[in-house]
Amino acid sequence: MSDQKNTVSMTDNRTGKTWEFPVIEGSTGPDVIDIRRLYAETGMFTYDPGFTSTGSCESSITYIDGEKGVLRHRGYDIADLAEHSDFMEVSYLLLYGDLPTPPQKAKFESDITHHSMVHEQLHDFYTGFRRDSHPMAVMVGVIGALSSFYHDSTDITDPRHRLIASYRMIAKVPTIAAWAYKYSIGQPFIYPKNNLSYAENFLQMMYAVPCEEYMVNPVLARAMDRILILHADHEQNASTSTVRLAGSSGANPFACIASGIASLWGPAHGGANEAVLKMLNEIGHKDNIPEYLAKAKDKDDPFRLMGFGHRVYKNYDPRATVMQKTCHEVLDELGIANEPLLDLAMELERIALEDPYFVEKKLFPNVDFYSGIIFKAMNIPVSMYTVLFALARTVGWVAQWNEMIEDPTQKIGRPRQLFIGEVQREFIPLHKRVSKNRELAPE
Ligand code: CMC
Repeated sequence: MSDQKNTVSMTDNRTGKTWEFPVIEGSTGPDVIDIRRLYAETGMFTYDPGFTSTGSCESSITYIDGEKGVLRHRGYDIADLAEHSDFMEVSYLLLYGDLPTPPQKAKFESDITHHSMVHEQLHDFYTGFRRDSHPMAVMVGVIGALSSFYHDSTDITDPRHRLIASYRMIAKVPTIAAWAYKYSIGQPFIYPKNNLSYAENFLQMMYAVPCEEYMVNPVLARAMDRILILHADHEQNASTSTVRLAGSSGANPFACIASGIASLWGPAHGGANEAVLKMLNEIGHKDNIPEYLAKAKDKDDPFRLMGFGHRVYKNYDPRATVMQKTCHEVLDELGIANEPLLDLAMELERIALEDPYFVEKKLFPNVDFYSGIIFKAMNIPVSMYTVLFALARTVGWVAQWNEMIEDPTQKIGRPRQLFIGEVQREFIPLHKRVSKNRELAPE
């Protein structure tokens, strides 16, 4: 492709034919080549598995410069938001585009607080799950089930309906998440309390029991709030793109968020925080680090160093920088010193950051590396780590979903493919078929 002013030209070397495509500039970040007419004009598609070079939408919510390690929401640096703001403010910012004034903030917090109870019948969904279900399985199911409860907010063409659905999602997800935990340990569900902040409320629904007064530890509440801020949105990652793709067909908003939760669950995405802890347990001792680093570098070994690497960040993950600081604060406040697993994590980080393989491939610790460690220090059960990510990311999904619905250029998401299968075959009757012995039969 050769560059001209505001266009890019493409030549097919087989035929010598040339086409021009417009280049669109955003407010910052890389320009994009507008290839919407590519197929109509050339009869060809682009091929980009994993979307490594594809911009799927216009967005004004979150900006990432992966080379410089920059993350901004609506123009504000993540470090500033984590330091000076709180999760409700950041949620407002993501949804509305600006930080709230004091009355706006008070109203927003009150509105979210007054949507935090769930329909009483939703209890029954939990009892359908095995007690040993992974809480993310419960989250996918119960958040999806919300789509069968709130019929008064599902007209996605009505901005007010969208707003109510959005508030409901943000408000109810801590209740649903905490109850997933309570169900797994056989304790009664604890209802939200309207005098508590968002993070405090989640902690009390997780840890309170009806027979005792529960006092939220302010250090843990502040750390939780900061963790929520750091996970609130992250541009067009796998789960957000899933929400947008699901929503692009006009699907029910609660069902769209459930699809995002399903995508987040995987260990390459939000499931990494849980995988970090499992990996640290598997490594077991500092002496074993070289062996596991060798495994991570071995192309024939599927083992990866969980909590390291990122598709976009080729510099330090800015969330990890804040998270590392929060991690040390929490450890200090809780008086945790010489915890073997945490020592192991710090040593792993130190050695990996000096290892030529990780240095050359720019594989730095990501947000999940530290969140796993903080959650461990906060005594949060390992199976809840990814649930906490989902809780925090709900506002990001909701903001991105709203932005997509409001965008007049957005169509149903429908990628194409490079077909490599059989072109056309004649049907063979059952009795004449010869086995190719390639089926994987279950045991
Ligand atoms: N350990 C060992 N090698 C790695 C790792 C790792 N954690 N991550 C990437 N690599 C290597 C990979 O083998 C490849 O090597 P080569 O070029 O020789 O083939 C190279 O680095 C590039 O990796 P990639 O898989 O092509 O990169 P990607 O952008 O497709 O994957 C990733 C990004 C985050 C999925 C990957 O780095 C990974 O699996 N990391 C571990 C899981 C993890 O921590 N995920 C959380 C991401 S941050 C929070 C979130 O988004 O949810």
